[in-house]
Amino acid sequence: MPRITVTGATGHLGTLVIEELLRRRVPPQDLRATVRRVEKAAHWQEKGIDVRPGDFNDPDALKHAFAGTERLLVISTDAVGQRIDQHRNAVMAAREAGVKHIAYTSLVDQGAGESDSILAKEHRATEVIVRESGIPYTILRNTFYAEYLLAPVVQALDRGVCASSVGDAKMGGAARLDMAAAAAAVLIEPGHENKIYEITYPRAWDYREAVEIVSRVSGRHLEYKPVSPEELTQILQGAGVPAETARMIVGMEAPLRAGHLSKVTPDLERMLDRPVTSLEQIARQMLAETQVQTPEP
Ligand SMILES: NC(=O)c1ccc[n+]([C@@H]2O[C@H](COP(=O)([O-])OP(=O)(O)OC[C@H]3O[C@@H](n4cnc5c(N)ncnc54)[C@H](OP(=O)(O)O)[C@@H]3O)[C@@H](O)[C@H]2O)c1
Repeated sequence: MPRITVTGATGHLGTLVIEELLRRRVPPQDLRATVRRVEKAAHWQEKGIDVRPGDFNDPDALKHAFAGTERLLVISTDAVGQRIDQHRNAVMAAREAGVKHIAYTSLVDQGAGESDSILAKEHRATEVIVRESGIPYTILRNTFYAEYLLAPVVQALDRGVCASSVGDAKMGGAARLDMAAAAAAVLIEPGHENKIYEITYPRAWDYREAVEIVSRVSGRHLEYKPVSPEELTQILQGAGVPAETARMIVGMEAPLRAGHLSKVTPDLERMLDRPVTSLEQIARQMLAETQVQTPEP
């Protein structure tokens, strides 16, 4: 019977967690992947991993999905607005299935502005459900993926100017791969029971530094242009971005502007069995994926 179960196993993070568990020599027969659509997980079955359906809207399926497992990683779904009920279903099913240890991917502590954010509200409510379940738990409070935060910087290469309304705001974004590695560590190592980790890059960085890194790694000119939210809206619309999308992009920068993602801790660095992936390595990887030629490191 598989010892370790990972939900969201066809998503980006779930895929990386399973790859990391295999890299750390967990035998495939010790692993179970739960997914919404089994046909999307044929690659896991081919590796000898047990695949079970586990839609978080279906409590009966979840009970079957988690039966017999000892350690469970619940990866938060992307259904913002429905997640408290979905996550409650998963935690209750885990309890009924007799799971011995539950880990949950939450959201980094955003400080004073936290109560404004629906993301934070859903994650904090889920944390309470997890803690009150009585199952030994680990909360992995992930910060934002550096890949998401760096995307507008990489996309700005074609224009040579990266305009942003976040100014000099600090952020602790880290590689998604590293967050997956931290989750995998929790699933296979002892000593993580009843702990809450704030999973961040080990030091704060800002867009000025990100622009310098992306420019250097790509070998292309890129300058940083801090602007107001209103100016950014105008710049985006002037570049043909529809008004609604422009408003959305500027809105997405709001938590950064307010410094809500500035938290940094040594937790991630301590949990990995290798150095944290550097911003430069992340940028290099992103440029490779977008086919931008880069000079040799
Ligand atoms: N830290 C960050 O910057 C950041 C950014 C975005 C999201 N997140 C959060 O972290 C989670 C994992 O990130 P990711 O990169 O792996 O995102 P992702 O690739 O979008 O994966 C989302 C996962 O949630 C699964 N899912 C959605 N609805 C479900 C349901 N009803 N029942 C069971 N599973 C369901 C999806 O299943 P399918 O494969 O079937 O679609 C997918 O596996 C996200 O879901 C979100 O909660 C964090």
